[in-house]
Amino acid sequence: MAISPYLKLGFYEDALAKGRHRDIVGGRWDETGRIQMRMLEEVGVRPSDRFLDIGAGSLRLGCRLVPWLEAGNYWATDASRDLMLRGYELELADKPRLDPARLIEDADFAFPGIPEDIDVALAFAVFTHLPLASLAAALHSAHKRLPHLRMLLFTVFLAPADGFAQSHRQKDGVVTHPDRTPFHFREADVTRLAHEAGFSFEVRSDRLPRGQVLCIARPKD
Ligand SMILES: C[S@@+](CC[C@H](N)C(=O)[O-])C[C@H]1O[C@@H](n2cnc3c(N)ncnc32)[C@H](O)[C@@H]1O
Repeated sequence: MAISPYLKLGFYEDALAKGRHRDIVGGRWDETGRIQMRMLEEVGVRPSDRFLDIGAGSLRLGCRLVPWLEAGNYWATDASRDLMLRGYELELADKPRLDPARLIEDADFAFPGIPEDIDVALAFAVFTHLPLASLAAALHSAHKRLPHLRMLLFTVFLAPADGFAQSHRQKDGVVTHPDRTPFHFREADVTRLAHEAGFSFEVRSDRLPRGQVLCIARPKD
């Protein structure tokens, strides 16, 4: 069994062929898109910020964020460019506001073709589906490749250190696991990785969909 559905061979092709671009990113389309927008405003993201949506999926956030940001300020990556393009075609109302060349396929958090002067990056519900090593890779890469970053925002599921090795029921009822999706992490591990990559680190206690928490990493220098 794959540790994440996104790693299953043919996953994106099958789901897109069935018209399931919203389901691939977890559904709850309007509710989650609205929550993400509110969250960004609360942490001080501004329309003038140059923004990178990491693991952007079918643009559940992008279809709201692109019209809100100043024109030309949105970039996105995802393991599947076809998924982003489906979102572009079906969900983005004002297409001239986003050049589809800014939707970049990247499954390694290498951020190819992403400009250096990104101010804010977000990975929402991405590391809930990937092992801790992927988060470590993304943190190091973002710190190195995006030297102007003010904030790197990402969501994770946390589990208490003493119950970490077992499955854990989150407050919203979702059951998370140490070794398969949806993954949970120890707060101490996420904090350590952020510090090792050169970030100061904060976890917000606000309730996000399914019990994820918002992490804010800010470059130390
Ligand atoms: C639950 S969805 C969230 C999508 C989007 N952030 C949102 O909130 O609507 C997780 C996304 O992570 C993407 N993903 C999975 N593995 C990835 C990887 N290694 N690199 C980049 N994106 C990945 C999936 O394709 C999917 O779009």
